[in-house]
Amino acid sequence: MGKDTVTVTDNRTGRQVELPINSATMGPDAVDIGRFLRDMGYCMYDPGFLSTASCRSSLTYLDGEKGMLLYRGYPIEQLAEHSNFIEVAYLMLYGDLPSPEQLAEFSNIITHHSMINESLKSFFHGFYHDAHPMAIMVGVVGSLSAFYHDSTDIANPRHREIAAHRMIAKMPSIAAASYKHSVGEPQVYPDNSLSYAGNLLNMMFSVPCEKYKVDPVAEKALDLIFILHIDHEQNASTSTVRLAGSSGANPFACIASGIAALWGPAHGGANEAVLSMLDEIGDIRNIPLYLARAKDKKDAFRLMGFGHRVYKNYDPRARLIRNMCHEVLAELGDARDPMFELALHLEEIALQDDYFIERKLYPNVDFYSGLIYRALGIPANMFTVMFAIARTVGWVAQWMEMISDEEQRIGRPRQLYVGPTQRDYVSMAQR
Ligand code: CMC
Repeated sequence: MGKDTVTVTDNRTGRQVELPINSATMGPDAVDIGRFLRDMGYCMYDPGFLSTASCRSSLTYLDGEKGMLLYRGYPIEQLAEHSNFIEVAYLMLYGDLPSPEQLAEFSNIITHHSMINESLKSFFHGFYHDAHPMAIMVGVVGSLSAFYHDSTDIANPRHREIAAHRMIAKMPSIAAASYKHSVGEPQVYPDNSLSYAGNLLNMMFSVPCEKYKVDPVAEKALDLIFILHIDHEQNASTSTVRLAGSSGANPFACIASGIAALWGPAHGGANEAVLSMLDEIGDIRNIPLYLARAKDKKDAFRLMGFGHRVYKNYDPRARLIRNMCHEVLAELGDARDPMFELALHLEEIALQDDYFIERKLYPNVDFYSGLIYRALGIPANMFTVMFAIARTVGWVAQWMEMISDEEQRIGRPRQLYVGPTQRDYVSMAQR
């Protein structure tokens, strides 16, 4: 019996199989079950992929027990304090922190690819004025594949790189245009003199008839939120991007599928859902009632912004963003914003409640990001779009890693079939 193997015995037949163990640099090692069906005749049943590693990756590591998050080995706290979104984007795409020349070149490329094709404008106008900006994002990002035929050969590394740059650069312009359409204002072109976050704020909030100055506090807060949201291992939207990409689909279509997966309230849609929930709770006096509802298994209500599949300790991103939330409200908003007060009370009460303690349910990043967005004047239906802008870096980095992985094959899970066994068609007259 090999040391780096696991032996599985089928108690029905006594048959045994030895499975190799793949070593991880951090976190749990993974048993290779690729031949299990062939050797033992069984599939592995794992709804929600609680114990399944779908790929090898060297991008992001998170330890849910310790509340630790690393991008390419660097702690999120250090990147949040010393770096900026563009530098972290470079780190994710290329594996190491850039030299000053590399950063200047990368920043220049991202800045100079931020305009979108003029024909795309008509796409926005095709949507009804009250369309959800995430619906517009899914459609418009998917449509980019119809504009950039010169970067859809996924076998060509240079094509992959150009597509990655284009998506990172154009996402704020598409997001801002979605917003402008929803409020009936003219689209604003990108301004190459501004930072990534500053440019987005300018495209969202400036109007042709008035001077707009990007607020440095808002710019810094948005840059931090973007860093915190860049990547998060094999979450639902990233796995969706990888699954779509495994079929050889073009990168623009893959990212559009990621945006769709992100939209759900259990994932990126939670930041919007947190504010709706706080709105619904309305008053500190109603917190006990809503906590009771969250604990009641017969009630579908959940405390949005609480809990995480992997973090069973405080989400490190939530800690960073909580501090920024105080800073932003002190500078830009009302530090006594009743919604912020309500959020703080809710957090305090939930963290002392046995139900939440036993299940290790802590506030996650989305609990606070919505409050910051609100203070910046960003409407609730744009919150998940903000998430999508930042996560695009993670999606393209994961997609590029997948395409160059020699073990990569089309993703095609098996199933535990529980439907009817074979039966004969019954004619209409006999039914
Ligand atoms: N409120 C009340 N109970 C909860 C909550 C919550 N927010 N989250 C989990 N639970 C309970 C759940 O009912 C279960 O209880 P029991 O063991 O008695 O059946 C237990 O805690 C474990 O929950 P789970 O549903 O098995 O955990 P999961 O890993 O499948 O789900 C989650 C993780 C994030 C989907 C879930 O915690 C949730 O729905 N949270 C609210 C939505 C949210 O904030 N999502 C943002 C996640 S962070 C951003 C991102 O990465 O996308």
